[in-house]
Amino acid sequence: MLNGERGPDRRFVASAPAVVIVCLTLAGWASQGVAQELKPQTVIEKSFPHSSKCKRCHERVFEEWDLSPLSKSIHSAAFRASLDVFLKSSAGKDKGLCFRCHAPQIRSFPDHVQLFIDQTMSGDPSLDGVACSQCHLIKQVDRTKHPPEPKYETDSKVLYGPYKDAVQNLAHQSREADIFQKSDLCLNCHQSVPSAANLGKANDLLGDWDKSQGVKGGRECQHCHMPEQVGESANGERKRKVANHTFPGRIGTLRQEAAKLDIQTKVEAERTTVIVKVQSLVPHNLPTTHPGWATVILNLEVKGKNLKTVFADSRTYGRTYVDAKGEKTVFDFEAVKVVADTVLKPEETRIETFTFPTPKDTRTFDIEVALNYGAITGPSSFLERVEAESSKGSQDAVFQPIEIVKRTENVLVGK
Ligand code: HEC
Ligand code: HEC
Ligand code: HEC
Ligand code: HEC
Ligand code: HEC
Repeated sequence: MLNGERGPDRRFVASAPAVVIVCLTLAGWASQGVAQELKPQTVIEKSFPHSSKCKRCHERVFEEWDLSPLSKSIHSAAFRASLDVFLKSSAGKDKGLCFRCHAPQIRSFPDHVQLFIDQTMSGDPSLDGVACSQCHLIKQVDRTKHPPEPKYETDSKVLYGPYKDAVQNLAHQSREADIFQKSDLCLNCHQSVPSAANLGKANDLLGDWDKSQGVKGGRECQHCHMPEQVGESANGERKRKVANHTFPGRIGTLRQEAAKLDIQTKVEAERTTVIVKVQSLVPHNLPTTHPGWATVILNLEVKGKNLKTVFADSRTYGRTYVDAKGEKTVFDFEAVKVVADTVLKPEETRIETFTFPTPKDTRTFDIEVALNYGAITGPSSFLERVEAESSKGSQDAVFQPIEIVKRTENVLVGK
């Protein structure tokens, strides 16, 4: 869609001072040699320049990305606590597993896995997680692998992106790669969890997303999660079509397009039945990633006389795993089998029926139905660890449900 765009006026570019001044300082790409004397982090950042190097020229993109969950992918208390559970588990021998998606430069530096672990555990890693270079150094993906595997090119000073006609700058070369407008770029981290490979089809995190109406209409992940807007591609460059890098998901207004709720109520003397139709508009599973501890919850609350809650119930959408000992676990890396799968499938309509005693001493009552992302779940030792690790304690974001959609209805008891 951006391919037809024309590049900005060259005269304008030549006079943009930022382009000239900053060019000399982009990463260690400028100098080679003496590698054996450099600290491991410096070596890593010579190949995968730190996002702070891109910020100077791509301030808008940087600030958007900085607000997104991607910029916190190895920084959260929940990640630290679950990484610790993982490393102590029998699956934990493959120490780099989590970083393959949470800090994918590990692929090029498997020997430095301890640095990634130490930095994460410090609570304030200076290594990037899923940042600029981690996506824009991907030259192509190997589609013969499932999920498609990224092929990084780290020693040519070329950054790959969506533009055919990128304006030249002195910090890096730019080259168009068609995968930047294709879901293939995202699948490696969003389609399945490698540790749970023995779960087979049940490890499929997106479901039959490619058969959904939403995707058949030609929409790639970027269409919804990196919506098109108009802005500066680099500081001072011409305004053109750019992609929002806040990655709307749990955060952002995309949520309002996630589901519709429909309520039908039947009052039959002493008993009332409420039928809730949950219609997912999402073209992939909901929730998608880590459906053991990440859930979506439908809450029903009935408020009778004086708006007092007289009945409450809920349904949970997620997966229940069991481990090798046959015990339930929320951790996908311990799972050997899925014993329950209530994840909302792509564009599925789910019917839920609730029955309760008709509220007494009132002519009307209220029904409140809400679909939320649930708080993180797991054994109490894990949840306590998250709380202890977080500077916000029990107020940490992972403990707060996030509303997706809500409906309220006033019901007449009759007579
Ligand atoms: C290198 C792995 C990787 C790639 C490639 C990747 N992601 Fe992600 N993505 C992650 C991780 C890890 C998180 C979670 C970060 C966190 O919350 O700690 C995430 C989070 C997200 C979220 C936020 C979800 C939420 O709950 O709010 C969205 C949306 C998203 N990614 C979309 C995309 C899209 C679209 C692409 C392709 C253009 C993509 N991702 C490519 C690893 C990746
Ligand atoms: C296949 C890629 C992949 C692997 C492997 C992976 N994750 Fe994730 N993880 C993601 C994505 C994508 C998200 C974002 C989910 C969302 O928000 O919908 C995420 C989210 C999370 C979150 C919640 C977000 C946060 O930071 O608060 C935690 C915690 C987490 N992962 C821990 C781990 C741990 C620990 C491991 C290793 C055992 C691991 N992950 C392995 C892709 C992966
Ligand atoms: C998860 C992968 C991912 C991450 C992380 C990421 N990008 Fe992008 N970026 C993309 C994709 C995909 C596109 C093309 C989107 C489209 O055209 O639909 C893009 C487009 C761009 C563009 C051209 C369009 C625009 O929005 O200006 C620039 C410049 C860019 N990214 C810079 C950056 C910088 C700088 C960072 C870090 C602050 C960053 N990106 C982080 C995937 C990513
Ligand atoms: C000296 C300033 C400067 C620095 C530093 C810089 N860029 Fe750029 N970048 C530009 C300019 C100028 C463009 C062209 C914008 C246009 O054509 O609209 C560009 C274009 C891009 C594009 C689009 C390429 C394409 O063909 O689609 C991407 C992606 C990108 N930069 C990523 C990065 C990343 C990642 C970093 C940090 C490692 C970075 N840039 C550092 C100035 C810079
Ligand atoms: C037609 C629009 C659309 C497309 C295409 C789409 N999504 Fe989503 N996605 C949504 C909506 C709507 C939600 C739920 C609301 C929200 O979280 O904002 C969602 C939620 C998510 C979440 C967060 C949910 C969770 O369980 O934490 C992730 C991660 C995600 N999508 C990744 C992807 C990836 C990867 C692709 C490409 C394979 C993709 N999406 C394609 C609309 C879309």
